[in-house]
Amino acid sequence: MIRIVALWIILWATMPVSLTWATHPGVKMEGGLEFLPLCPQMRTTPNAPDEVLRLTNPLPPSPENIFAGQTLFHFDAQPGPCRVCHGISGNGLGILFRELTPSPRNFTCNQTMTGLPDGQLFWVIKNGSPETAMPAYKNLDDEQIWQVIHYIRHFSNEED
Ligand code: HEC
Repeated sequence: MIRIVALWIILWATMPVSLTWATHPGVKMEGGLEFLPLCPQMRTTPNAPDEVLRLTNPLPPSPENIFAGQTLFHFDAQPGPCRVCHGISGNGLGILFRELTPSPRNFTCNQTMTGLPDGQLFWVIKNGSPETAMPAYKNLDDEQIWQVIHYIRHFSNEED
């Protein structure tokens, strides 16, 4: 919990305020606002270099690899677990999402995720996305990054 609060404070202190991005829109409901996952989700994330973009996940999508990725996503990844931004169900509505522009990627959105090669996901997880809240996961080794990619792919690979 302390880590999540610390991450939140760091985000507030370092986030550049971008006027070109609208905050995640809410839908007015009786008694409050409802937030729907963004899909298709606009993205302006820079592309990985060609040699990385071409990489495909070298690990099999075995239950062990997916489970290792799941543990990193929800609990163990440093500087903070993916879930606080990308959400428990991977839809981009984690507890911090309203503070973040651009919004965290919605991994459940087939239209956006299908166009993203493994190498692109690998590059962004390793190096972060500049000028956004997406941090660089320098503490994860390559195998752990591929495991977490198997896990985030499962959110969108299901048949509609
Ligand atoms: C502090 C919030 C935060 C955390 C924690 C976080 N992300 Fe993100 N993530 C973002 C945001 C915001 C974006 C959108 C960046 C952009 O639009 O360029 C993003 C984008 C992404 C993308 C999309 C890359 C692309 O090219 O479209 C991937 C993949 C990703 N994150 C994976 C992860 C994984 C895996 C973790 C955990 C190991 C994680 N993120 C943790 C905020 C976060």
